[in-house]
Amino acid sequence: MDPKDLLGIIHPFLAVAFVFPMVGIVVNMAWQTRQRRLQLESGEKSKIPPIVGREHVKIGRWLAGSVVGITLIALAYAITFLPDPKLYEQPPLQIVFILFMFAATIASVYFLYQARELTWRVVFSVLSTVGLVILGAQDGVYRRTDEWYISHFYFGIAVAILMVFSVAILPEIYRDKRWRIAHLVLNTLAGLLFVAQGFTGARDLLEIPLYWQKQYIYKCDWEERTCPFELQSSQPQIENLLGLEARNHPNFQN
Ligand code: HEM
Ligand code: HEM
Repeated sequence: MDPKDLLGIIHPFLAVAFVFPMVGIVVNMAWQTRQRRLQLESGEKSKIPPIVGREHVKIGRWLAGSVVGITLIALAYAITFLPDPKLYEQPPLQIVFILFMFAATIASVYFLYQARELTWRVVFSVLSTVGLVILGAQDGVYRRTDEWYISHFYFGIAVAILMVFSVAILPEIYRDKRWRIAHLVLNTLAGLLFVAQGFTGARDLLEIPLYWQKQYIYKCDWEERTCPFELQSSQPQIENLLGLEARNHPNFQN
C-alpha cells in the first residue's frame, strides 16, 4: 500500500478502533446515570452505583477530545493530499494561514479543557468551533454540499461541535436542570450523528480510489457513470471477451 493511502486510513482506523467503542461506553453510562437519577427521584432504591455519573463524564471528556482530534486529522489529510489544489500547490500565505488555523484550533481546544470560568469556556468553545468551520472550508475537503443530508463532512463537523459544546457547558449540566435537558437532547442527536458517521464514512472509504488508481478514476464521468475507454490498453481484455485469444491457443486446435 502506498504511504499516502496508509495516511488516508489513519482517520477511519482511529474512529473505528477508539472513538466508536468510547461512544458505546459513554452512551451506556449516560443511560445508567439517567435511570439512577429517575429511580432516586421517584423514591426507589437504585442498584446502579453512584460512580456511573462520574465515569460518564470522565470518558465523555476523552470522547469529546478524540472526536475533535480525528476530525482535525481527516481535515489535514484532505487539505494536504486530496484534489485540487493540494496544500503545497497553494500560495505561501494560504499555507501559513492553514497551518496557523490548525495550531490555533488545537490550542483553543486545549484551553477549553483548562478553563473554569464561564467567560473563558464560551471564548474557547467559540474559537474551537470557528477553527473547525474555517478548516472545513478549505480546498480539498470533500463537503458534498448539494447532498448535505448524507454528507460525512457536515455530520462530522456538527458532531465535533456538539462535543465541544458538551465540554463547554459541563459545570452547568450539574447546576441547572434546563442545561441537563439541553445536554440530553443535543447529545442524543450526537449519538444519531455518530451512527450516520459510521455509514457515510464506510461509503466514502469505498468511493476513494487507491493512490495509483486516481489518475484513471478521476477521468471518469460520475454523473454518466462512464470512463474514457483506451482501446490499446484494453485490447487483450477485449480479445479475451471475444474468445479470440482462445481460438489462437494451441489447446483450442482440436
Ligand atoms: C453521545 C454522547 C453523550 C450522550 C448521549 C450523553 C447523555 C447524557 C445523559 C442521558 C445524561 C443523564 C442526564 C440525566 O441524568 O437526566 C448525561 C449526563 C451528563 N453528561 Fe452526558 N452525554 C454524552 C456525552 C457527554 C460528554 C462528551 C460530556 C462532557 C464532556 C458529558 C457530560 C455530562 C455530565 C456532566 C452529566 C451529568 C452527570 C451526573 O449527573 O452525574 N456528556 N449525559
Ligand atoms: C466520530 C466519527 C467521525 C467523524 C467525526 C468524522 C469526520 C470526518 C470529517 C470532518 C472528514 C473530512 C471531510 C472530507 O474530507 O470528506 C472526514 C473524512 C473522512 N472520513 Fe470520517 N469521521 C468519522 C468516522 C469515520 C469512519 C467510521 C470512517 C470509515 C470507516 C470514516 C471515513 C472517512 C473518509 C474515508 C474520509 C475522507 C478521507 C479523509 O479526509 O481522511 N470516517 N471524516
